Amino acid sequence: MLITLVMSNRSINEMPIGIFDSGVGGLTVYRALHDRLPNEHFIYLGDTARVPYGTKSMATVERYAIENSVFLASRGIKMLVVACNTASALALPKIREKIGLDGVGVIGPGGRKAVEITKDNPHAKIGVIATEATVASNAYYEAIRRASDTAEVMQAGCPLFVPLAEENWTSEPETFSIAEKYLAAMKDFAPDALVLGCTHYPILRDVIQQTVGENVKLVDSGEATADEVAALLKEKGLENPNAVSGKRELCDDLDHFYVTDAADRFARVAERFLGTKPSKLEAVEVYGVDELGKI
Ligand code: DGL
Repeated sequence: MLITLVMSNRSINEMPIGIFDSGVGGLTVYRALHDRLPNEHFIYLGDTARVPYGTKSMATVERYAIENSVFLASRGIKMLVVACNTASALALPKIREKIGLDGVGVIGPGGRKAVEITKDNPHAKIGVIATEATVASNAYYEAIRRASDTAEVMQAGCPLFVPLAEENWTSEPETFSIAEKYLAAMKDFAPDALVLGCTHYPILRDVIQQTVGENVKLVDSGEATADEVAALLKEKGLENPNAVSGKRELCDDLDHFYVTDAADRFARVAERFLGTKPSKLEAVEVYGVDELGKI
């Protein structure tokens, strides 16, 4: 068993925020949190051994999500952010049940943000693009419906956007033609706002914006989540009181990154996404542990 329970005498406010994703895509959410919360420290787990989650069943995604959450909780965190849209859509209730911590997903914040920015139009049209599993779960539809009785919603799966983002094909003609194909029906729907409901899609933001048209407001669920995490920390009195001296850099040594496989590839793709590699990056195993007490 590679997991060890880290006992800490830090106050809860000084503890890091845990973030997990199925792999490298959640770094877009890490970036949003890091930019929004410069005094906070982060522990990120990328489940690179088992990515992708977006084509898997609910039972499997729940199991992986619990193992990831238990691992992060065992390191001593004050809040858990489920950066992966698929895990947020399929597993958030189970995670909250298992982990005695605030668990924040990206679906609620993304859905609420889309409603907020279109609230002047009572018949707003909101599009959602995401993985197959997220679309099939209807989680975004339900989150939008909870915030608005009237918004019209259309969802579309765009699975090839994930490898295209990881390849950094952010302006290739092939990416534009795949976007045209995936988003043809969405363009006919003519949404007022379009939710980027997958960790990787902000990397392809320009392609998506050009394809659907400049008048469509894009919603980055990671950024919406960072705003809600900031508000929640404040509301719960959990903000870190220690100002970091000097400028925080992405991936500096205040943040700790873990992966379940292929650390070198994670570091390479991280550099594409963030312009820098994690200074602290470790490979770990998280399998088979679904209870904190068993660690
Ligand atoms: N992180 C996933 C999400 O946001 C995308 C990659 C995957 O399918 O695991 O849904």
